[in-house]
Amino acid sequence: MTDTPMTYARYLALDTLLDCQHPQSGEGDEMLFIIIHQTKELWLKQIIRELHLAKRQVQADALVPAYKALARVSRIQSVMTQSWDILATMTPSDYSRFRAGLGPSSGFQSDQFRTIEYLLGLKDGGFLKYQEDRPQAQSAMQAALHAPSVWDDTLAAASRAGLSIPQAVLARDVSQPYVPSADVEAAFLTVYREPERYWELYQLAEKLVDLDDAMATWRHKHVLTVERIIGGKRGTGGTAGVSYLQGTLAKRAFPELWSLRTAL
Ligand code: HEM
Repeated sequence: MTDTPMTYARYLALDTLLDCQHPQSGEGDEMLFIIIHQTKELWLKQIIRELHLAKRQVQADALVPAYKALARVSRIQSVMTQSWDILATMTPSDYSRFRAGLGPSSGFQSDQFRTIEYLLGLKDGGFLKYQEDRPQAQSAMQAALHAPSVWDDTLAAASRAGLSIPQAVLARDVSQPYVPSADVEAAFLTVYREPERYWELYQLAEKLVDLDDAMATWRHKHVLTVERIIGGKRGTGGTAGVSYLQGTLAKRAFPELWSLRTAL
């Protein structure tokens, strides 16, 4: 313990934080590239905390308190999407000056991004292998992969609230990709047809659609910015680049909440 009063810099560990940017090249735009990525990792850290909180609340049937955490996630997502406008000020020539220094590294390997996908319900254990050199990050991913997703928790809460959710869905192997169910769609159609009766579930469902919507919007802005900066080149992470990213745009964590809109 020290008697020295707390300072702004010590409270925020500023000396550590501001010593974490190490451009490989002497090129000016590499600093922006690093700061955008680091900022995004900090926001992902906060999103993970909020999702864990929302999950605990949904598991306890405290749906109204869960709205607050989910609304905060949406706001963070919207800031992350806006940051593409900053990165888009970096031209292809600016990027090409330091791209070689990235080697095979890529946002594709972000463990926190995958943890969020897992927590939402987009399960793909194939991404664990990118953390072989980071046991702690890998075990956090493992835990999220093997835990019920926000959607699994929501379906269990819906079942407790009297909706007809099939036992096979409730008892599914939660580490596997979720397979959309016609029965789940039918159950949530009831909610959307009678919102007054199922207000809490209805509100929760719309908050979840906000998250899926914001995730898709972030993905769209990413692929557009990538096309603007590297055109049709392959990604540093080894995928085909823009065409790979376009294939991710259709990912939905809560598929029945989208499909039911056709039937409504
Ligand atoms: C010059 C800027 C950027 C370029 C050219 C770029 C390019 C790419 C490419 C081509 C991929 C596919 C994997 C690969 O082959 O590498 C990818 C994936 C990814 N990038 Fe970026 N990226 C850029 C900036 C960013 C930034 C600023 C972030 C985060 C703030 C980010 C986050 C991600 C994530 C999370 C993935 C995985 C997406 C998925 O698999 O669904 N990228 N990026």
